Amino acid sequence: MRLEGKVALVTGAAHGIGRAIARRFSAEGAHVVVNDINKKGGEFVKQEIVESGARASAIPADVSSKSQVDAMFDQVFDQLGGLHILVNNAGLISPMLHFLDENADEKWWQKIINVNLTGTYLCAHRAAHHMARNGGGVIINMSSGGASRAHRGFAAYDASKGGIEALTRAMALDLGPYGIRVNTLVPGSIDTSDMTSESREKRGENIPLGRVGEPEEMAGPAVFLASDDASYVTGHVLTVDGGMLSQQRSATADIFPLSKYPKLL
Ligand SMILES: NC(=O)c1ccc[n+]([C@@H]2O[C@H](COP(=O)([O-])OP(=O)(O)OC[C@H]3O[C@@H](n4cnc5c(N)ncnc54)[C@H](O)[C@@H]3O)[C@@H](O)[C@H]2O)c1
Repeated sequence: MRLEGKVALVTGAAHGIGRAIARRFSAEGAHVVVNDINKKGGEFVKQEIVESGARASAIPADVSSKSQVDAMFDQVFDQLGGLHILVNNAGLISPMLHFLDENADEKWWQKIINVNLTGTYLCAHRAAHHMARNGGGVIINMSSGGASRAHRGFAAYDASKGGIEALTRAMALDLGPYGIRVNTLVPGSIDTSDMTSESREKRGENIPLGRVGEPEEMAGPAVFLASDDASYVTGHVLTVDGGMLSQQRSATADIFPLSKYPKLL
């Protein structure tokens, strides 16, 4: 019960990593506000949490819309009396387009930047004003390995995540004196879209731990950053990727392949 008595807002919590974090935060004693643009999905996760015996609310909103974000925060402050933890998890990955694709236009760029980067800013801005006046708090952002090593066809996405890492450091400096810690998680290849067993296996081959990650494996690091166990951790980028970003070449292209590893009894 490391988050007992806390109110935590998790954006994009109807599915995947956000859902796993929302469920785990509630199991750790927090009252979780499940946000998502998908109203039905958000209600479903709220219900799952309530049925587990914990407390939760669901507030649908598009994090890229300032008016919807403002209405959501007003509702949180009015109904729950405050906010201690914000997880900026909502994110758009697709459409993936080559930089020279005719559809890789300003509209495509703006949509991904608006949800991922501006959405993070809008929610963090409202939360920070409240937390700074109410004894501090914790903000956790969600980056990607794409912030430091590019994916093919992901220019807008990778740029949005690079922005999130820079924003994390900038907010950590400005907000530290007000008792607000700001960190970012970097998920690796996490199976949130029901990959086939074949693609799970193929992806896993190139990951040092030998497998893709589960959404629940993002939840423990999120609890750590949200809790007092991380009371001296701010401006940090915590990578949770089975070692992916540590490697120079993929396992299949390496000059010292897995087949040469010693067979231990
Ligand atoms: N899954 C991975 O392997 C992986 C890897 C790196 C980074 N990430 C990041 O982790 C976060 C979660 O990813 P996921 O795989 O769980 O994604 P997901 O698609 O499973 O879930 C994302 C959720 O965000 C919601 N959402 C989308 N746009 C929204 C908006 N404008 N306002 C509110 N909610 C919105 C969706 O409805 C969905 O429920 C994202 O920021 C993603 O970029 C994921």
